[in-house]
Amino acid sequence: MRANQPAPVTARAPAKLNLHLSVGPVRDDGYHELTTVYQALSLYDEVTATPAAALSVSVHGEDAALVPLDDNNLAARAARALAAAAGVEPLVSLEIVKAIPVAGGLAGGSADAAATLVACDALWGTSMDRAALLDIAAGLGSDVPFALTGGTALGTGRGERLAPVLAIGRWHWVLAVAESGLSTPDVYRELDRKREHDVLLAAEPLDALINALRSGEPASLGDALSNDLQVAALSLRPALRRTLDAGEDLGSTGRLISGSGPTCAFLASSADDAVRLAAALAGAGVCRTVRAAYGPVAGARVVSAVGR
Ligand code: C5P
Repeated sequence: MRANQPAPVTARAPAKLNLHLSVGPVRDDGYHELTTVYQALSLYDEVTATPAAALSVSVHGEDAALVPLDDNNLAARAARALAAAAGVEPLVSLEIVKAIPVAGGLAGGSADAAATLVACDALWGTSMDRAALLDIAAGLGSDVPFALTGGTALGTGRGERLAPVLAIGRWHWVLAVAESGLSTPDVYRELDRKREHDVLLAAEPLDALINALRSGEPASLGDALSNDLQVAALSLRPALRRTLDAGEDLGSTGRLISGSGPTCAFLASSADDAVRLAAALAGAGVCRTVRAAYGPVAGARVVSAVGR
């Protein structure tokens, strides 16, 4: 690094769960109209942005080999989109450290994009206002605005239009991560296909979930969790039924597949209960790995800017 160059900036962004996901019809642009409630979890990807002669991306951590490094990489796209909006060149090296499982239904790619926006905004001193950053985020993917804002939020439109939702206290989750990922477009297509052939159950009412989040009662929240994509993810990956059933047998307070899956999320009644449940699930042999996390947490944040 040359003396007159800004110091590297590291930002982190959280994984998300969809506590409620109801999927409406396909729109003209190919996306589905959604009503969803997101919660940001204490499981983070980190992105370090360093001045460089050209844009480059490297990925470290579990699953790193599964992340595409070409122009489709969401972090690279985020850097280019921010640079274009700010009128600067995207001369940055992005080093991603992944803790969020890839293609897990936890919005790991969206977290990388959000962390990149925040890190590059600080590195380049572009000082984008919040609304402009959220706009750029929405252009990158449906879940990227939420990865910026974090907390607990209602998402509508493609999922990108956000309003905060009151959630009392801290919720403890255990995530069962599957052997391999599922493609989000495939899961939406499978839902459309199933809807043509079968009569599917409607989602649990949204107000039950909103009230449960306000009550702070794990049992109420456990009963109110629902995800329209679950039936489609189970159709593509029937083995996930065993994972969900194992979590139920082991005493989880609630369970669902996260987003388009295949990660299964189990609600625990306390931090201690989450540790117990995580150990029991890990021993049950129904998933690749297990993570305990809590929510809600804040969205994308700069965590270090050496020498600034
Ligand atoms: O917006 P994002 O790139 O994350 O979406 C990935 C894919 O998920 C889309 O290409 C689309 O197939 C599907 N999707 C959808 N309706 C949404 C969000 C995502 O059909 N509201």
